[in-house]
Amino acid sequence: MEDRRRSSCPCQVLPRDAFEVLAEFYEFNEVEGPCLAFRRAASVLKSLAWSVRRLGATEGLPCLGERSKSVMEEILQSGRSFEVEKILSDERYQTLKLFTSVFGVGPKTAEKWYRRGLRSFSDILAEPSIHLNRMQQSGFRHYGDISRAVSRAEARALGNIIDEAVRAITADGAAALTGGFRRGKEFGHDVDFIVTTPEVGREDRLLTDIIESLKQQGILLYCDYQASTFDQSKLPSHKFEAMDHFAKCFLILRLDCSRVDGGLNSVEGDSRGWRAVRVDLVSPPVDRYAFTLLGWTGSRQFERDLRRFARSERRMLLDNHALYDKTKKEFLAATTEEDIFAHLGLEYIEPWQRNA
Ligand code: CTP
Ligand code: MN
Ligand code: MN
Ligand code: MN
Repeated sequence: MEDRRRSSCPCQVLPRDAFEVLAEFYEFNEVEGPCLAFRRAASVLKSLAWSVRRLGATEGLPCLGERSKSVMEEILQSGRSFEVEKILSDERYQTLKLFTSVFGVGPKTAEKWYRRGLRSFSDILAEPSIHLNRMQQSGFRHYGDISRAVSRAEARALGNIIDEAVRAITADGAAALTGGFRRGKEFGHDVDFIVTTPEVGREDRLLTDIIESLKQQGILLYCDYQASTFDQSKLPSHKFEAMDHFAKCFLILRLDCSRVDGGLNSVEGDSRGWRAVRVDLVSPPVDRYAFTLLGWTGSRQFERDLRRFARSERRMLLDNHALYDKTKKEFLAATTEEDIFAHLGLEYIEPWQRNA
């Protein structure tokens, strides 16, 4: 009786969602330790096939700290968490969450706007002293479209567009789907591709040629291109969150309905016949392809865990560019992801097993 009432209560919070709220709260406050701890806790719960009903059931689990356990205990007992409810009803949290949902707006900018008393999009857009950069302008312009999930059919259609562009530039070039869709997800917030050419040194040019082609086709709505700053003599980074140095671009593309099997994932009543979609392209030199593929396939948590394993269990440094053995003091080459797992002494882990 008690249980039935609890499970049908709409206010009941799932422990995993609670951990994600807590992680985000600490991220907004720039407190890294608890942020990562709650992210890890959320991802541990995600990887469990069964739902956690009793606290005892979680005892053997790794990565659940004292605080995570006490939040979970409270939720398992009462269906709610006092701390999470306090955060969710907090005006600052709500406002930062809203502002950072705009493409191009990070926690720092959101905080600055909040301090100036701004609370809504209309507050921001009506404030004459606020200068939006190009990225944020696109973020607001395409807000509805890019906050809506991208479907697998849409990802496939974009794959065809990128593939055609690459092949028109060079017959031996290739585009590979990576990110969440490579891990088998049905929906994503963007679509990620790695583009390559077998000729080392031509990859920078390949990317700018692709961008030019998308522009010619009239489907380039926004482009932030970053040229390569890759230095092959550098050791892999110790810091996980550091971005890689390959040529890359963050795009917003116009995707026409006619290109998508089964139509667009658009809202009802939207009759434009197209939608805007976020697309990321990265273009590493071909001898670094396997490292980039592994790094961009994610998930973020999987990458963090793999790098930590490499460092602490193998004395190796891994990032999107390379794998370095600190004992032998040498770089370990790889042409496939299998090579990298083998260097690490791990069995191959399929992309769809990397959803941590
Ligand atoms: N990544 C990276 N360097 C970047 C951008 C992304 O290494 N400059 C990696 C991230 O670490 C992540 C992967 O690329 O593992 C994909 O990033 P992202 O698109 O943000 O996440 P997805 O897992 O694809 O999930 P989503 O559906 O939200 O896009
Ligand atoms: Mn993605
Ligand atoms: Mn993402
Ligand atoms: Mn991405």
